[in-house]
Amino acid sequence: MKSFEKLRDRLAIPLIAAPMFLVSNPKMAMAACREGILGTFPAHCTRTRDVFEDWLKEMEEGFKEDGASSYAPYGVNLVVHPTNQRCEGDLELCIKYKVPVILTSKGAPGDIFKQIHDYGGYILHDVASKRHAEKALEGGADGLIAVCGGAGGHTGTINPFSLVNEIRQLTDKPIVLAGGMTTGRDILAAQVMGADLVYMGTRFIATHEANVTDEYRQMLCDTNANDVFFTAALDGAPANWLKPSLLAAGIDLDELVRTPATEVMSADKVKGRYKNIYSAGHGVGNIHKVDSVAHVCQRLKSEYGEAISTLNGLQRLAS
Ligand SMILES: Cc1cc2nc3c(=O)[nH]c(=O)nc-3n(C[C@H](O)[C@H](O)[C@H](O)COP(=O)(O)O)c2cc1C
Repeated sequence: MKSFEKLRDRLAIPLIAAPMFLVSNPKMAMAACREGILGTFPAHCTRTRDVFEDWLKEMEEGFKEDGASSYAPYGVNLVVHPTNQRCEGDLELCIKYKVPVILTSKGAPGDIFKQIHDYGGYILHDVASKRHAEKALEGGADGLIAVCGGAGGHTGTINPFSLVNEIRQLTDKPIVLAGGMTTGRDILAAQVMGADLVYMGTRFIATHEANVTDEYRQMLCDTNANDVFFTAALDGAPANWLKPSLLAAGIDLDELVRTPATEVMSADKVKGRYKNIYSAGHGVGNIHKVDSVAHVCQRLKSEYGEAISTLNGLQRLAS
């Protein structure tokens, strides 16, 4: 995957189903790829390197299906921060299986980027500020994922317009916009404001394929942006959580507001804790039913098409 144009040509709409710790899996990723949407999962979702290899084999098998030449490519999220002791082994497997797109987060080491480029992998690195973006570009990332305020999981805090405009001053490379988007119209809006692709996470959690409990799915259908609680006190990184899940876990929200951020913790350390504490972005208020990944993708594609046709109607306003 040498160029953005090659990547974009293989997508039905400019969308990535974002990687989500303890939620994504090969079934979800494959279902998105079949619909022409880039499916992903984090390497650190798997308990061991061997399980990660099984997931990569499952993807490889999926891409042998009839009609697979029309599928979108897939991506793997690698945490390239020193707290991730599995990084080297997981990277070896990405090289072995030639994972087409690598979504790197936390740190932007040029030596790791070089190894990914050497086998032809395409690197999108996630950033939450202009400084992060500068470092990722110095490291040689092919594109940047702008994680803005209102995103699910570990979130940024900057307004999407502001962050995209700041990053655009640094580079013409592709920008993937993340945070709070749930519709095809949102995808077009992101393009209008200068992004090239969209990253949606929360939209894909209330699906049959997601590796989550029915309680989590239902909570997504029952909550809205007011139910999202922002804190860095749970694992050291600023993140958005569903209040009802924090309350059900016996967490006092008033105390949490006053609790300072902890040291950044690795995925291994927090796995147990996150079994019944659920994350979602501000877009949660637009999720009303549990569906299959295929149906969610089909809906997003048709909404995107409709949004383009209404945009044509707006053109006369510019004349
Ligand atoms: C439950 C959950 C887990 C997440 N885990 C990861 C992760 O392991 N790695 C990562 O790069 N991003 C992770 N994210 C962030 C998503 O990749 C993406 O940036 C975010 O979901 C986009 O915002 P949205 O949820 O509002 O669409 C997670 C998000 C959620 C909701």
